[in-house]
Amino acid sequence: MPVYQATATAPVNIAVIKYWGKRDTKLILPTNSSLSVTLDQDHLRSTTTSRADPSFTSDKLWLNGTPDEIKPEGRLYTCIKEMKRLRKELEDKDSSLPKLSSYNVHIASYNNFPTAAGLASSASGFAALVSSLALLYQLPATPSELSLIARQGSGSACRSLFGGFVAWEMGSSPNGSDSLAVQVAPESHWPDLHALICVVSSAKKGTSSTSGMQRTVATSPLLQHRINHVVPERMAAMSKAIQDKDFDAFALLTMADSNQFHAVALDTEPPIFYMNDVSRSIIALIVELNRVSVEAGQGYVAAYTYDAGPNAVIYVREKDVKRVFQLVLAYFPQPAGEFKDVLKVFGGDVPD
Ligand code: PMV
Repeated sequence: MPVYQATATAPVNIAVIKYWGKRDTKLILPTNSSLSVTLDQDHLRSTTTSRADPSFTSDKLWLNGTPDEIKPEGRLYTCIKEMKRLRKELEDKDSSLPKLSSYNVHIASYNNFPTAAGLASSASGFAALVSSLALLYQLPATPSELSLIARQGSGSACRSLFGGFVAWEMGSSPNGSDSLAVQVAPESHWPDLHALICVVSSAKKGTSSTSGMQRTVATSPLLQHRINHVVPERMAAMSKAIQDKDFDAFALLTMADSNQFHAVALDTEPPIFYMNDVSRSIIALIVELNRVSVEAGQGYVAAYTYDAGPNAVIYVREKDVKRVFQLVLAYFPQPAGEFKDVLKVFGGDVPD
């Protein structure tokens, strides 16, 4: 009996122009385009194994070893159904292929970092799930085509199908056929760029991105301004900063967009707070570091960004990794009180 099984991994991505708001909640179509940096595979990733077998009585999923429910018409269900549909199309064209689309699947997914801690676990999770099913089903799909399906699991997941610098074009089609991820530049384009992750808290976040976005879209006037008058220009400026490897422009845009995302969360009724006092202290430290450096004519050193949680991601260049790492550790010694977890360095070794 042949074994039909495949394993794939996908890394986390951290947006520098944030996605916040859906114009279609079922298809997960965003109210604005977004742009992110995919982190390297070694540190924050999901690894997913999918297996199809005629003896399986239903589709099943385990997340970090614990069974997870596949709710009818839910997001997992939709992604699995869409992947089976693509496999069926292949089988219809080539009758010699095994009828995997008619088998149930068992899927096991592991994260090597805390789930739902504002570290974009759903992004890497759905990207790895779709990638493992694409391998299992031997689909000839491109990453952009797969991003259309990963998007329906979790919006930001569509960007984890690519490494490097990735845009999620919001698209305009009502069926979502043009709301997909494209690579702006590969990782090799700017290897000098590193990300420090400061795990302020690994607790599960209070307001999920799904309910938070729904509330923001329904109540925030600032979101409308952001969608219409801020993001389109920022997307173009950020792509240019990346193409030019212009760290000053990259840093300014990244911090401004993080600030506006959290302003929009605050502008929601009732308001949503994702950052805490430690998050804000880290911002103050980076602002001061940059001020001194800019005044000395040396430009920006670091750029902070925060997703839907209190953890900081700090982008720095290679030459500044050690300095910024040591500075953060000096102000937030480890292990200590609120700033409790290890500060992790991505794209490089932890300095001594
Ligand atoms: O894809 P979701 O539902 O996990 O939403 C992600 C939203 C942010 O992380 C806050 C921003 C982004 O673009 O990743």
